[in-house]
Amino acid sequence: MDRLRIRGGQPLQGSVRVAGAKNAALKMLAAGLLTTDELALSNVPMLADITTMGRLLAGMGVKVARDRDTVTVRSDGLHSTEASYDLVKTMRASIVVLGPLLARAGSARVSLPGGCAIGARPVDQHLKGLQALGAQIRIEHGYIVADLGSNRRLRGARIVTDLVTVTGTENLMMAATLADGQTVIENAAREPEVADLAACLNRMGARIRGAGTDRIAIEGVDRLHGAQYRVMPDRIETGSFLVAAAITGGDVRLEGAAPATLDAVLDKLREAGAEIQAGEDWIRLRMVGRPRAVNLRTAPYPAFPTDMQAQFMALGCVADGVGAIVETIFENRFMHVLELQRLGADIGIDGNTAIVRGVARLSGARVMATDLRASASLVIAGLVADGETWVDRIYHLDRGYERMEQRLTQLGARIERVGSTPA
Ligand code: EPZ
Repeated sequence: MDRLRIRGGQPLQGSVRVAGAKNAALKMLAAGLLTTDELALSNVPMLADITTMGRLLAGMGVKVARDRDTVTVRSDGLHSTEASYDLVKTMRASIVVLGPLLARAGSARVSLPGGCAIGARPVDQHLKGLQALGAQIRIEHGYIVADLGSNRRLRGARIVTDLVTVTGTENLMMAATLADGQTVIENAAREPEVADLAACLNRMGARIRGAGTDRIAIEGVDRLHGAQYRVMPDRIETGSFLVAAAITGGDVRLEGAAPATLDAVLDKLREAGAEIQAGEDWIRLRMVGRPRAVNLRTAPYPAFPTDMQAQFMALGCVADGVGAIVETIFENRFMHVLELQRLGADIGIDGNTAIVRGVARLSGARVMATDLRASASLVIAGLVADGETWVDRIYHLDRGYERMEQRLTQLGARIERVGSTPA
């Protein structure tokens, strides 16, 4: 199994290009189920999760092809509406095929995702919303079995979600594009990936207004058609590189980024002492000296993203002072704490709050990645730890970061992928 070897202490310098957003591309691939025409997506990152979604769709008879950063999907040959446990358990985002399958084919059988390393993550809001749109849903043998009963199509409805859910909003928005009449989703997720998906769907002929706000209105249409769409830049990958630059006291410019989607993250980096300049599609971060400790609280967009919490914790580990990190989205997203402690971090946890006391130095050790963003945090910590840090189980990292170690090497980091266990 691959692992990463990092020798810390090198300030990152230079420029790197940001990849397309995983969490936008995955849903757009599923949106390909809504039309029999071809959907061509560019700026699709090369990631394990994208491959998994491709396999899931291919299993249903969808033609999926990649040519460099462009992926085309064509679902005129759709012959199955099932998402099996084997695939769904490896990638929870698979749940986003549920809404499109129901809208397009009138039925779906999608495995319930089951438990997850970062929290319980139920899908009750997806199901409640689809039921409001007229779907009949039952749970059978671990699967969500959904159909339209005696109805020919889904029916538009007003849906108020109990909490803000990203994939829940996306599933309902996609389903509603082909429903009869108008759907309104209140308390919708405002994440930029939701707005990007809506823009892609509108390019396919959907009539969606308000995506990016907490009230999305969708006027159902009879059919969607093919389109070409360029996926937005990955704001979490961008943020992760920025934190890596900051922790090492580096000077890094990110190209092809979307600074407008990163306000909360850039604010916290400035508070930590980073100097940041940004244009329309680039960000430059310079950090001189030791970072200052910051307090932060994760919350739905536009507040600080839970997907950047672990990386900021790594920064806090070597900061000057004490910072409190409150995680409000997922109940178990502190798995990286025990690993950061193995590198010498001083972190205490009380419920959903972590108190991070900055230490003067971290020391390299063998650590284990537990989930995607936790892996990024360990790599970031390894970049400043004394001696060697080995990060194990990096298949988590490969799910969400394209060739992370190569791009860090390009910035001067001493990091390599190694295929065997160290002696
Ligand atoms: C999306 O997950 C992202 N995944 C996650 O990114 C991200 O951490 C999360 O949104 C929050 O921003 C994708 O887009 C593929 P939620 P999602 O539904 O949609 C609870 C990464 O590292 N909830 O917004 O699954 C849920 O348990 C990943 O790239 C319900 O209770 O998250 C959680 O506590 C990890 N019932 C909260 O809501 C529901 O029906 C927010 O979850 C749905 C959610």
